[in-house]
Amino acid sequence: KTEEPLKVMISGAPASGKGTQCELIKKKYGLVHIAAGDLLRAEIASGTEKGKIAKEYMEKGMLVPDEIVVMMVKERLLQPDAQENGWLLDGYPRSFSQAKALEDLGIRPDIFILLEVSEEDLVERVVGRRLDPVTGKIYHLKYSPPENEEIAARLTQRFDDTEEKVKLRLQTHHQNVEAVLATYEDITVRINGSVVKEDVFAEIDKALSSVIKRKPTSSSAS
Ligand code: AP5
Repeated sequence: KTEEPLKVMISGAPASGKGTQCELIKKKYGLVHIAAGDLLRAEIASGTEKGKIAKEYMEKGMLVPDEIVVMMVKERLLQPDAQENGWLLDGYPRSFSQAKALEDLGIRPDIFILLEVSEEDLVERVVGRRLDPVTGKIYHLKYSPPENEEIAARLTQRFDDTEEKVKLRLQTHHQNVEAVLATYEDITVRINGSVVKEDVFAEIDKALSSVIKRKPTSSSAS
């Protein structure tokens, strides 16, 4: 018998720690990490028309139109690696229409993880966040500083990581979160995201283990 691959959605306000937890989840569970924001930033980096439009919205802290985001995520989810190993969807869906697009395809996760962090902490996390363009690793100047000088020297900051822009991103989040939560109410697990990242992960790990225990196994004989 083979186990059905795990399907996970992770959500939470901007800078609540989704990307950080996804690195840890991926390492332990081998799921394919699909981050809507990363797909959009890759599109911007390749200089496409879609990327240009996306950047205009991202700079205002607004949701990128469904015409761009929905296709992008759907296509990535349906790739063989995600279908075989299971997936970890980060930053999608962010609106009722995005959730409905997946429901219409019969795509539903086993669990919907919601990271909860206070607004003050969110702003501090955004302003101190840095990224390593070489490894893709997420750092924080205070909470997760780079390991050495060489890495420190090459760290970059996201164009939407200013205090002013995170306020707009938070507004957008508050306007949309309830509609998404309503869609996944029965499978939602709320996690306190305000503690150190290892402790946040311990809670997520517990929740995922119990989902795996409950999951039916598909038998190749049937
Ligand atoms: P996206 O890239 O998804 O950004 P976001 O939701 O704002 O989330 P972040 O990536 O900022 O934060 P995170 O939760 O991953 O936190 P992280 O782990 O890095 O979206 C960007 C934009 O793209 C949106 O505004 C929108 O315009 C567009 N977009 C994306 N998806 C879309 C969609 N579906 N539809 C339409 N538009 C879409 O952590 C943050 C910092 O805190 C780091 O420095 C980290 O080191 C630190 N940290 C993490 N955990 C802890 C901890 N426990 N304690 C202390 N510090 C911690």
